[in-house]
Amino acid sequence: MDLHLKVWRQSNREDKGRFVDYEAKNISSETSFLEMLDLVNEELIKKGADPIAFEHDCREGICGSCGIVINGRPNGPLRGITTCQLYMRSFKDGDSIFIEPFRAKAFPIIKDLIVDRSSFDRIMSAGGYISVNTGGAPDANSILVPKDKAESALDAAECIGCGTCVAVCINASAVLFVEAKVSHLARLPQGLPEREKRVEAMVSQMDKGGFGACSNTEACSFECPKEIGHDVIAQLRREYYRANLISKE
Ligand code: SF4
Ligand code: FES
Repeated sequence: MDLHLKVWRQSNREDKGRFVDYEAKNISSETSFLEMLDLVNEELIKKGADPIAFEHDCREGICGSCGIVINGRPNGPLRGITTCQLYMRSFKDGDSIFIEPFRAKAFPIIKDLIVDRSSFDRIMSAGGYISVNTGGAPDANSILVPKDKAESALDAAECIGCGTCVAVCINASAVLFVEAKVSHLARLPQGLPEREKRVEAMVSQMDKGGFGACSNTEACSFECPKEIGHDVIAQLRREYYRANLISKE
């Protein structure tokens, strides 16, 4: 199929940026969206032009690096996938496709479709860890984890830090991401020693990072490629209020 692309080009953080038209010709429906961009880039490189910058690593929905906005939706028209898991069979011959980066104050654009998501790293540094006593390797069974707790922690641990929740939110809120990380650790016995400190530090860093507040539209859960449910939001609030009460006692 032949496609008309309108791609956001921006040379650096200061550049104002603009959409530029490209033609993607003779694209197979079995090509992935990122492979389609690879083909466009090959043609640009042959002509001596600057290829379109986009981020990617695993191309398997694991690393969370590839998110872009396609026709106004983070990761394109399907739910429950990352951009690298999108295939061109979701489009028709002759389609026009708008391709742009995630838009959020906390995710400044580095170049073209690549944004700086280090604000997420700073939230993780603030509290997304557990204490580890150094020494001999601990016995794997020394802390027993009930099956239901392990499974619910793993549900929250599916978050890949992609930033889709921020990109889709009208307030650019990072609440779903923070909740997934807080819930993952709060649901395990290994995460309990820093329980109160963690939630306060991560929420405080989220506020400093330039993210907006949650207004409960649930767009974040709807578009999250890992389908992190809104139940973790309730858990974050419980954890936060609990930590506040304990610190006031
Ligand atoms: S909560 Fe979902 S959308 Fe948000 S960063 Fe994690 S995986 Fe991505
Ligand atoms: S490239 Fe790793 S999730 Fe898409």
